Amino acid sequence: MLLVKVGGGDVDLTAIADDLASLERPFVLLHGANKLRDKMGTALGKPPQVVESISGFTSVLSDDDAIDVMLASYAGIRNKRLVESLRQRGVNAIGLTGLDGGLVEGVQNEGIRIRRDGRKFLLRDQSGKPKRLNTSLLRTLLDDGYVPVLTVPIVGADGTALNTENDEVLALLARELNATHVVSLIEEVGLLSDPTDPESVVPEIDARDLLEWEGRVSGRMRRKIRALRSLFDGCDGAGPVYHLADGRAPAPVSAALAGAGTTVRCSQLSPDLDLEPADEPGASRDASADAGTGATENEQWVDRNAAYELDVYGKRGLAIISAKGSIVTDAAGRDYIDCVGGNGSLVLGHRHPVLEAAVAEQLGSVWCVPGALVTPVRTRFLERLHRALPEELDRTFLSNSGTESVEAALKIARAHTGRTDFVSCLRAFHGRTMGSLSVTFEKRYREPFGPLMGGVRRVRYNDVEALGAAIDDSVAAVVLELVQGEGGVHVADPEFLQAAREACDSRGPLLVFDEVQTGFGRTGRLFAFEHSGVVPDVLCLAKSIAGGLPLGATVVRKGIGLELGQHGSTFGGNPLSCAAAAATLDVLSAPDVIGGANRVGEAICGPTIERQLKVVKEVRRVGAMIGIQLRVPAKPYVHALMEKGVLALTAGRTVLRLLPPIVMSDDDAAGVGELLAEVLST
Ligand SMILES: Cc1ncc(COP(=O)(O)O)c(C=O)c1O
Repeated sequence: MLLVKVGGGDVDLTAIADDLASLERPFVLLHGANKLRDKMGTALGKPPQVVESISGFTSVLSDDDAIDVMLASYAGIRNKRLVESLRQRGVNAIGLTGLDGGLVEGVQNEGIRIRRDGRKFLLRDQSGKPKRLNTSLLRTLLDDGYVPVLTVPIVGADGTALNTENDEVLALLARELNATHVVSLIEEVGLLSDPTDPESVVPEIDARDLLEWEGRVSGRMRRKIRALRSLFDGCDGAGPVYHLADGRAPAPVSAALAGAGTTVRCSQLSPDLDLEPADEPGASRDASADAGTGATENEQWVDRNAAYELDVYGKRGLAIISAKGSIVTDAAGRDYIDCVGGNGSLVLGHRHPVLEAAVAEQLGSVWCVPGALVTPVRTRFLERLHRALPEELDRTFLSNSGTESVEAALKIARAHTGRTDFVSCLRAFHGRTMGSLSVTFEKRYREPFGPLMGGVRRVRYNDVEALGAAIDDSVAAVVLELVQGEGGVHVADPEFLQAAREACDSRGPLLVFDEVQTGFGRTGRLFAFEHSGVVPDVLCLAKSIAGGLPLGATVVRKGIGLELGQHGSTFGGNPLSCAAAAATLDVLSAPDVIGGANRVGEAICGPTIERQLKVVKEVRRVGAMIGIQLRVPAKPYVHALMEKGVLALTAGRTVLRLLPPIVMSDDDAAGVGELLAEVLST
C-alpha cells in the first residue's frame, strides 16, 4: 500500500494530481492546508492565535473559531478540490476527515500552561493526539475501489472535532495499513544537514538515527521526525520505506519513489554490533527489543549506555536529546527547566546564540593548535580575559577543566615558593585529580586513592584564627573557594579573605582562589573576589568560562609562573573553547546580563523563603548559586522536582542545590520558584 501526504505549504497540487493519476496503483492520500487556513482565518477576521506556554513554547490555539476555519479550509476547500482534481483525472477519489465515520479517533490534549496577568492557567483547547484508526471503514473503501483523500480534524471520544498533527495521523495510517511506501511532500527539497544550504540534502537515513536527527532540527521538521520515530518504533528491519521530498518538483511522487529527497529505512540490527548473543544472560542492548518490553525511550538509552559506561555518577534515568537556553528536552520529548546547568557550567544557558555563532565560525577555520603555536582566537580570548581582570594578574595558563586549573595552581605554588604544604578548608572541593583531590575535603572521594599528596592542613571555613595557626614556613599556598559549592553553598566572610591575604603577604604562601564554580557572573559579579576586593596570587577558572565547552584557566600575579617545559596540556586552550570563551565575556559585559544572577536567584528562592517551610532550615544564596539547607535528605526533592519538569542537584546529603542560567526568563524563574516551594511543602 502506498500512502502519500501532501503538506499544507506551497506545493504544486496540479503536478501532484497528474502524477498520482499516472501511477495506476491504489493509494491513500492525506493532506494539510495550513497556509490556506491562515489566509482564510485572516480574511474572516479569525486569524490564528499563537500562545506561548510557561516554558516558552509557542502553539496555535485550537478554539471554536479555529476549528471552524480549519473545517472550511482543510475539509471544505482543499479536500474537495483535491477530490475534484483526482476525479477529473479518472481516480475514484472520496474525501473524508478523521471525524467522518469516526475514522481517526484521538485523545484530547491536557492543555497549554500559560501565564496571564501574573497568574498561571491551563488553557484547554480542541487539540489532541490520534490513537485509533477505523481500519475496517478504510479497508472497505479500498476494497470497493475508492481512493480515500483524508484530512483533519480527527474525533475525540465524546465526538468533538480535534485538531492534531497530520504527521502523527500519517504514522498511525502507515502502521495500521501496513504501508510499504510513505511519501511526504513538503515545501523543501528534503532533510538538510545544513538548514541554510538547500544543496545539503541527506539522501538516506537509518530509522535508528532519527532520535539524533530530532535533536538536530527544530520547528515543524522536529515534530515531523518525532512522529516518524513512532512510525518506525521497534521496526527491526521491517516497516515502510519513507520518502521526504519536494512537493514543488515535477512528478513529485514518482521522483520521491525513485529516490529524490531523503529516504528513511529501518535497517536490521547487526548481531555483531548491537546485540548480546540471544542465549547469553544479560539484557539486550537493542533499543527496539527494549521497546518490546515496554521500556521508555529514556530507559532504552540509559540501558544501552549502562552496558559500556563506567558509571561513577549514578544516572537519573533521563537521556537529553537537545537543549536551548534554560530548557533541555529528553528522549520522550519532555522539556525540563535546567537548574543543573552542566554542574554550574551554563551561566548563559545552553547554546547561547552569540556563543553558538562564534563556535560555528571557528569550526570553519581551525580546531586544534598546540600550545607551541599561536592562534588568533586564543590570543583574542586571553586579551579579553585580562581586560576584565585586575592589572596585577597578568599571565594565564590554559587547560581543559577545573581540576586541571587547580592542579596547575598547586604546581605553580610549589615551584614558586620552594615549599611543599597546603592549607585548604573543611568541606572544600577542588577536583578529582591527585593534586586537587589532596586539597579536597570529602574523605570518601580521597580515601580509596591514597597515598595522596602529603602536607595538607585543613581549617574550618571562615575561621581566621585557625587559618593563621595553620600557616608556617612549609606552606606553599592557601587554597580557598569564595563560595563552597559542592560543600553546600557556604559563603566566605570578607574578613576571612582579607585575613588570608594578609597572612600570605606576611608569611610567604601564595593565595589561590578557586573560582571554578563562582566565576563568570554566577554570584552577581564577573568574579566572586570582586565582592570583597581581595585579589589572589593565583586564580583558578573553568566551568562557565566557555559556555559549556571544556576550558580551564590558571591566572597568576606578575612575577609568578613556571619555567619552559615545566607544565603543558595537549588540548589546553582549544580554539573552539576559546571562541566560546571570548564570546562569553562579550555577552557578560553587556548591560544587565550579570544582574540576571540576582534576579533569577531571588525569583527562585522567593516563594520558599516567604512560606517559611518546616523542612527548610536555611536558604543560602549568592546571585544564582543557591543552596537550600534542609532538615531531611535532599535527594527525594531532586526527584520530585524532576517529575515536575525542573532539574536540580544536591550538595551533600541535606542541601538542595540549583545553578540556573542567569539569563533564564522571568517566567521560567518564577515557575521554578513556585514548583520548588510546592515540592518542599509536601
Ligand atoms: C570549586 C571547584 N573546583 C574544582 C572543580 C573541578 O572541576 P572539574 O569537574 O571541571 O574538574 C569543581 C567542580 O565542581 C569545583 O566546584
